[in-house]
Amino acid sequence: SGAKVVQAFSYRKKINIESFSRINRENLEINVQATKVVSSIGPTMSVIRALGIALILWYGGMLVSQGKLTIGTLVAFYGYVDMFFRPILMITMFYNTLQSTLAAAERVVDFLRWEKEEDYGSIDKMPEKGEIEYKNVVFGYDERIPVIKGVSFRVRPGERVAIVGPTGSGKTTLVNLLLRFYDPWEGQILIDGMDVREYKLDALRKSIAFVSQEPILFDGTVYENMTLANSSISKEEVIRMLEYLGLKEIIDKLPEGLDTKILEGGKNISMGQRQVISYIRALIVNPKILVLDEATSSLDLYTEEKLQKALEKISKGKTMIIIAHRLQTIINSDRIIVIHNGRIVEEGTHDELLEMKGLYARLYESQFAKITT
Ligand SMILES: Nc1ncnc2c1ncn2[C@@H]1O[C@H](COP(=O)(O)OP(=O)(O)OP(=O)(O)O)[C@@H](O)[C@H]1O
Ligand SMILES: [Mg+2]
Repeated sequence: SGAKVVQAFSYRKKINIESFSRINRENLEINVQATKVVSSIGPTMSVIRALGIALILWYGGMLVSQGKLTIGTLVAFYGYVDMFFRPILMITMFYNTLQSTLAAAERVVDFLRWEKEEDYGSIDKMPEKGEIEYKNVVFGYDERIPVIKGVSFRVRPGERVAIVGPTGSGKTTLVNLLLRFYDPWEGQILIDGMDVREYKLDALRKSIAFVSQEPILFDGTVYENMTLANSSISKEEVIRMLEYLGLKEIIDKLPEGLDTKILEGGKNISMGQRQVISYIRALIVNPKILVLDEATSSLDLYTEEKLQKALEKISKGKTMIIIAHRLQTIINSDRIIVIHNGRIVEEGTHDELLEMKGLYARLYESQFAKITT
């Protein structure tokens, strides 16, 4: 599975490079077009001006020679026409700059507004119980296309709920809303009875350990990446945590252990090691709520089992939402919520849901059963 990870990464990199050069090309073409238009405005205006002056001199000269116009009036008229054209020329020259400045200004305003709207809550402390409630939540990424179509459920403090459903059914989206990466169109999400929007963003995100299968890694050592949230945690403490979770040997496989430098995007860090990094991150903050978005790709059974055991230790006494793909994590949950097309369609324990012979039973037969064999 190591090779798979490498493949997945170089593939993604290729996609990135491809889309980057595509966007670059498009940008170039649009810029060339814009420059063509802008640079044609200046000369056109100059030609019109020159023609105007020629016309005045020709027609005015005729009138002067016929004695119908004095030289003084002609000169004055010429002066006025010139005074009229000069500012117009200036405007066309500045028009380009003005346009790009306005576009930039728009972005600045957008950014300022976004920053302000995002964080208006006032509750600064972490929730004590860790109770979660979704109330008629409706949300979509694109206007008028809802992805979550009225979802309500409650997770009691300390309960472990698994969310399952076909791909694209809205599971990750549900979690994104809890962490306020987006806000719902309608309905509410409550933590300990308070709307998530009432928490300060910083306090909210600190109160939820979000373990994604592919944690974001930053430049620096493995140790630094583990202790982002609290750099006062010593290396000895991290080692103790690793031993407690039974994960030390996974990190020991790295050439310099905790001091290993993470290369760009973490290409020298295995999937299992990434997982260890996010587990330690979660343990360091030690919040009441743990959210886990399991990736579909599986690790080798040995590592899988170690991580599973570590997770049991980390999740002790925590409210837990797992977007689950593995049968083991699903069966170990107190309750399973089945999502389909942005709605909850079934809810219950593994046995109850199998009994229903509905979507869960079908998913179980086609997916989960296969993954564990
Ligand atoms: N950032 C986004 N912008 C626009 N649409 C999105 C975005 N993220 C997800 N979607 C769309 O929302 C729908 C739900 O996606 P979501 O990621 O929540 O599914 P999921 O249940 O987590 O699927 P999977 O099991 O594959 O992870 C999909 O149709 C997806 O295309
Ligand atoms: Mg998902």
